[in-house]
Amino acid sequence: MSSASVVSSSPAPVGDEETALVLDGVTRRFGGLMALSGVSLILPRGGRLAVIGPNGAGKTTLFRLISGEMRASDGTIRLFGEDVSRVGERARARRGIARTFQVSNLFADLSVLDNVRIAAQARSSRPRRFWWPIGDRDAYTLRAREMLDRVGLAQRGGDRVADLSHGEQRQLEIAMALVVGPRLLLLDEPAAGLSAAERKVLRRLLEELPEGLSLLLIEHDMSLALELVDHVLCLDNGVPLAYGTPDEIRANPAVQAVYLGRRD
Ligand SMILES: Nc1ncnc2c1ncn2[C@@H]1O[C@H](COP(=O)(O)OP(=O)(O)OP(=O)(O)O)[C@@H](O)[C@H]1O
Ligand SMILES: [Mg+2]
Repeated sequence: MSSASVVSSSPAPVGDEETALVLDGVTRRFGGLMALSGVSLILPRGGRLAVIGPNGAGKTTLFRLISGEMRASDGTIRLFGEDVSRVGERARARRGIARTFQVSNLFADLSVLDNVRIAAQARSSRPRRFWWPIGDRDAYTLRAREMLDRVGLAQRGGDRVADLSHGEQRQLEIAMALVVGPRLLLLDEPAAGLSAAERKVLRRLLEELPEGLSLLLIEHDMSLALELVDHVLCLDNGVPLAYGTPDEIRANPAVQAVYLGRRD
C-alpha cells in the first residue's frame, strides 16, 4: 500500500487524524506570475516527502504557504486534520510545524546554545517575564543542550555561531527546529553549500530524526533526498509534474528531462 498519495480533487474527510498534511488545489499567484498551480497531496503522519524541481519551480513558495508565512491564492491546507488555510504562521507553529530556511536565519553574534534557547522560548506558550530564565539549568537550557547533543554540536554550545562551519550552522538550524518538538518539519535545502563530509553528517542526522516526525524536504542533492524519503513530488514551473516513490521518480522520463538531466 502506498503511504502517501497525490489527490486530484477531493479533500480529506474533516477530522482525519491519520494525516499530517493535506493540500487541495493549493495555488499562489504573484501578480501575473503563477508560482504554484493546483498542488494537491496527502502526507500521512510520519510520512517523508521530498519536493524537487528546477530553480523557480515553486518549492520554497510551497513551504511558505504550508508554514503560513504567506497565504495561498486558492486551495486549502489541512494540518493534522484541521483546516488551517486562514490560520496565521504562529498559530500553525503551535499546531506542530517547524521550518528551516533556504537562507540561514541564525543570530551570528550569539552563542550556539543561546540560538537554540531563543528558538525554544520563542515558541513557548508560557508567559514570559524575562527573555529567558536566569541560570543554566532551566528547562529551556536543558532542552537546548539535549538538541545540540542530538545534532552533534554538544561541544559547541559556548561558541559564537559565526565561528561555526557552514555545515555546523545547518546542523544548528535543525536543532532549533527540533527543540520545539514539531510534528511536521519543513527543511529547505539543508545540504546547500555543504562539503561531502558535511553532507554525510547531515544525512546521518536526518536518518536519525524521531520516528513519528513527518518531514517535507526540499533538496537539490538527489542522492541525499531520495534516500531519506518514501515519496517525491516534482514541481516544474509551479505545476506538479510527477509524484511517486524514489524509484518511480528516478525512472520517470519527464522528471529526467526537466530536472535530473539538467543538473550535475
Ligand atoms: N515574493 C515573491 N514575489 C514575486 N515573485 C515571487 C516571490 N517569491 C517567489 N516568486 C517567484 O515564484 C517562483 C517560484 O519561486 P520559489 O522561490 O518558490 O522557487 P524554488 O523552487 O524554491 O527555487 P530555488 O530552487 O531557486 O530555491 C519564481 O519565479 C520566483 O521568482
Ligand atoms: Mg527555494
